Amino acid sequence: MSAPHEHGGNIFAIARSLGLPPEAILDFSASINPLGMAPGVASALAASLPNLLHYPDKGAVELKERIASYHGLAPEEVAVGNGSTELIHLLPRLVAGAGKRALIVAPAFAEYAAALERAGWEIEYFHLTKEDGFALDAARLKERLALGYDLLFLCNPANPTGILTPAETIWDVIRLCRASGTFLALDEAFMDFCEEASAKELVRGVPNVLLLRSMTKFFAIPGLRLGYALGAAETIASLAALQDPWSVNTAAQVAGVASLADEDYRTRTRKLVAGERAFLAGELARYPQLRVYPGAANYLLAEILSGGTAKDLRGYLMPRGILIRDCANFEGLDGRFFRVAVRLREENLKLLEGIGTFLSKRY
Ligand SMILES: Cc1ncc(COP(=O)(O)O)c(C=O)c1O
Repeated sequence: MSAPHEHGGNIFAIARSLGLPPEAILDFSASINPLGMAPGVASALAASLPNLLHYPDKGAVELKERIASYHGLAPEEVAVGNGSTELIHLLPRLVAGAGKRALIVAPAFAEYAAALERAGWEIEYFHLTKEDGFALDAARLKERLALGYDLLFLCNPANPTGILTPAETIWDVIRLCRASGTFLALDEAFMDFCEEASAKELVRGVPNVLLLRSMTKFFAIPGLRLGYALGAAETIASLAALQDPWSVNTAAQVAGVASLADEDYRTRTRKLVAGERAFLAGELARYPQLRVYPGAANYLLAEILSGGTAKDLRGYLMPRGILIRDCANFEGLDGRFFRVAVRLREENLKLLEGIGTFLSKRY
């Protein structure tokens, strides 16, 4: 098994170990928009260089206004962070007054557990199963919440399964959390790929919910570190009070504003990703050795039913310059599961060729 909190996208270390430049690697392990950054971002960053002589705008006023208007919310309902990871790590402190017992809907992003462990919380998992297609059953969750938890982590669409929980079920979860006195951290890191399913309208003014969003994935700026939270103004103010000063630097603020200015890029991204996701899913499903789960974001989870493990497949593809995510270290999954990002057609074809050769054992 790999290290417990390993992530995808470890491209610099892997390129070094293979003796290759990072550009020579096709990274399907981190799920980043295959179109790259929005067209105006690089020039906005270049133009902002002289401003690096000053401290960043501490209130990130322009960025918060942009995010608020993108979502039809007020700036007071937005907090920005050094990646949504910063905000995830603040959550145990935000909720700390209440207690120290959390429930994580699994399989899930490993930083939830990392943040809770670091803060000394007790962690339990609510497992979604492959037999149910990793779908969330609100009635089963209700029974579990009755055991008493201070904080619930839920990701929608989920990572790594890609499964989208419908808005009606999210609404049930919000009500259940209110009834059981549980704070809900609803992670929508990949929701820009299917924005119409966001719970942003549902959580307006609800004090015990935070919606977490990331600009890393859809807007392809993982190296700048930019994420944000949406929630009731009082909750947002309490969260912001816990942050280190200047946690969102000038370049990240500028890139965030420029990214959100380009509606055409968002439309192109959604269209491209939906088309390539359907293509990739269809092609992978042709292999009887694989089961592919119907993801709603820019990645797909697959299970190897026979013919090797995800570790074997990863090991086969890596020296060929192709990285995939072995999902063995996700709570609730095992060594048969792997995740691949949806990329451009010719890149997806290279991945498919590699997987096909591996499964046919023709190498
Ligand atoms: C589900 C999920 N939430 C949050 C994050 C953190 O994203 P950020 O880069 O904004 O810290 C990730 C990153 O992989 C993720 O997969």
